[in-house]
This record gives sequence, C-alpha cells and structure tokens, in this order.
Amino acid sequence: MELISRMMDGSISYDPEGRLEPVSSGPGANQGDKIERLKDVPMFEGCSQRQLRSVARIARVFDVAAGTLLTRAGEPGDEFFLIIDGTARADVSAERHVLLHPDEFFGEMSLLDGGPRSATVVADTPLRLLVISRRHFSALLKDVPGLTEALLVTLSRRVRQAEERAERLGGGQNARGSSGAGADTVPRPPGPA
Ligand code: CMP
Repeated sequence: MELISRMMDGSISYDPEGRLEPVSSGPGANQGDKIERLKDVPMFEGCSQRQLRSVARIARVFDVAAGTLLTRAGEPGDEFFLIIDGTARADVSAERHVLLHPDEFFGEMSLLDGGPRSATVVADTPLRLLVISRRHFSALLKDVPGLTEALLVTLSRRVRQAEERAERLGGGQNARGSSGAGADTVPRPPGPA
C-alpha cells in the first residue's frame, strides 16, 4: 500500500524516517489557508465559495521530502494529489520522465478507471501536497462538475502528446513514453528504473 494511503487511513501516523507528515501549521494547513490557496489553483477556478469549503474540508495537506515515492507503477492507488509547492517526477516509461509543478495534479488515472498506477511518481524536491482520497474524490466530481472538465482537458493533452511522441518515434515506442500536459520532460537519471 502506498505510504500516503496508510497516512490517510491512519494505519501509520508518520513515516518511520520522519519524511512525511501531515501539516498542522504553516501555510496551507488550516481551512482558511487552504481555501485561499485553492482559489489560485486553475483546476478549482469556477468553484463557488461553498465548493471550495468542501474541497478544503476533505483535502489533507502533506509535506514530503525529496525522494519520497508517491505512486508506484503497476500498484493500486487510492489518492489524488495536487502539488501546492515543489516538483514531482513521473516516470512514465523506462526512458522518459515528466516534471510536474505547482497547480499540476497526478494520481487521477487510477481513481477514474480503477486500474493500477500508470507511472511511478517521486518527489523531485521537497513537496507540499494536497491529497484527496478515492471516496472523497468521487463525491467531489459529482459536486463540482467543472473538475471533470479540468481532468478531461489534462488527460486529452497527455494522450495527444503521447500520440505525437509515438508518431515522432515512428510508432516504435509505447505511447506511455510521452510527456505530460504542459510538463517538462527530462532525461532519466542514472540508476535502476
Ligand atoms: P495514476 O495512474 O493514478 O498514477 C500515476 C500518475 O502519473 C497518473 O495517474 C498520472 O497522474 C501521472 N501520469 C501518467 N502518465 C503521465 C504523463 N504522460 N504525463 C504526466 N503525468 C502522467
């Protein structure tokens, strides 16, 4: 089970190495701060004050050290992540990884189709994350129709870019080796995948 899942369901209270902690103070920690921050997130643009309040109520904020594994390709996943601060790296294939920046999200695919994680995502820098569990995510999509649209736009971009990249490579590589929506792609670091 992913570390954050265990944090979210309370089965562990903190990472044994102290790298992952729910934020109890500082920006982004309390309801008021969360709502203020959510107002600036393009994905929540168009949300009413009531909708922002419900997002702030269900979302938890976590601080994560660089190097923390957030999703592992092929494993089940139960959380949606929105980056508040810092950069995450999605390893979308053995050759390619994609950098994800503040206001970008990941983890939506497993929640939408129930399949395993499509990519391994690691904190590239220290990260502050807003995390929403599967149960709350489904309810949120029903309550805030604009979010579905935001997800579809990003997914469409990712598919389009995957297709373009596959085409550039002459169809010789799996489409998952593409970049993400508006994201940087950078060469894979040395070491095992
Ligand atoms: P999920 O499959 O739940 O977990 C891994 C996440 O990595 C996935 O959801 C997406 O959010 C993200 N991801 C997968 N492929 C790409 C891509 N090509 N570009 C950017 N992000 C991706």
